[in-house]
Amino acid sequence: MSKQALLQSFDLNGLQLPNRVVMAPMTRSRANNPENMPTAELQGKYYAQRAGAGLIITEGAQVSPHAVGYINTPGIYTQEQVKGWKEVTKEVHDAGGRIFIQLWHVGRISHPDFHNGELPLAPSAINPEVQSFTPDGLKDTVTPKAMSVEEIKQTIQDFKTSAKNAMDASFDGVEIHSSNGYLFHQFFSATSNHRSDAYGGTKEKRAKILFEVIEAMKEVMPENKIGMRLNPSLHGIFGMTMDEETIPTFDYIIGKLNDYDLAYLHLSEPFSDVSDIPYAETEIAKRYRPIYNGNIIINGGFDQEKGNKVIEEGDADMVAYGKPYVSNPDLVKRFEQNVSLTDWDKDTFYTPGKKGFLDYEKKTA
Ligand SMILES: Cc1cc2nc3c(=O)[nH]c(=O)nc-3n(C[C@H](O)[C@H](O)[C@H](O)COP(=O)(O)O)c2cc1C
Repeated sequence: MSKQALLQSFDLNGLQLPNRVVMAPMTRSRANNPENMPTAELQGKYYAQRAGAGLIITEGAQVSPHAVGYINTPGIYTQEQVKGWKEVTKEVHDAGGRIFIQLWHVGRISHPDFHNGELPLAPSAINPEVQSFTPDGLKDTVTPKAMSVEEIKQTIQDFKTSAKNAMDASFDGVEIHSSNGYLFHQFFSATSNHRSDAYGGTKEKRAKILFEVIEAMKEVMPENKIGMRLNPSLHGIFGMTMDEETIPTFDYIIGKLNDYDLAYLHLSEPFSDVSDIPYAETEIAKRYRPIYNGNIIINGGFDQEKGNKVIEEGDADMVAYGKPYVSNPDLVKRFEQNVSLTDWDKDTFYTPGKKGFLDYEKKTA
């Protein structure tokens, strides 16, 4: 029997992956220390347990104090945090793995409780009307402050500094979190971006910040180690609503990404049933494979069979698994040996400590 498509090796712009199974970025809220830094004992062990993945993408790491929006998430902007991440990458590399860090700014999904009462920053002063996961539990979001051009420039600088920090911490690359309703996605959407300056009004202007971030990051790290995450058909979740400009905006962004030699484009299939949403695209990999010339990771509700199929059919090069990776640290071996998967416990997704984090057992040798 020939090797499963998921288990075939892949050359990720020079980084050799032994298989095409990617661990999707997942916030786990275990950086519950005053520095919000990861440690070898917790995050180091957790990611090393999953080093059999072709590629690990870490949980979102905030690029500045402004960027945070969930309790106990790690940062990548202080030297202490960089030191912590250096220990994490060492654990993963020693275990034979490869690891990218996801750089994150939540924008309007944050809450004044994270900012000494100051408003969160966003493209426009529009409340997403969702809830924010604050140190005192879930709270309603507020109307954010529309960013000044100076604040936009500072944010671009924060991504650049964090990219440099990621290289100093020996990551194999970085992923820009431009999906799931967070800051850059808020800029892309005509529903959440009502600006009339250089950063809003047309699809080109709504996407401008993202390309300025790539240009800035290229100055401190190789372009081919930068990955990009997008979730074009996100509707009714994280405060996002699709409109007639949504898919044309993503078509433009993804077309323009061809101007760069990025590590990959990481796409998500719709997180909810969008078949009745007039402006949605229901098949993301199929739509964007012919538009994007580089490597594609696809994500969202995949199992072993669907993962093999999407690669065999040529619609993606790699498949990212989220929840299955929480509870199956030996996911690749389980695919190899056709061993059944362990269910995840969603009650421990965002709780501190080792339970539901380090105690999922391997079932394969
Ligand atoms: C607990 C949890 C935390 C998540 N945190 C992030 C995150 O930090 N960044 C991100 O881009 N996506 C995040 N996601 C989304 C996942 O990366 C993935 O897109 C989603 O789980 C769908 O994939 P799956 O069906 O394989 O689980 C998270 C998902 C879960 C379940």
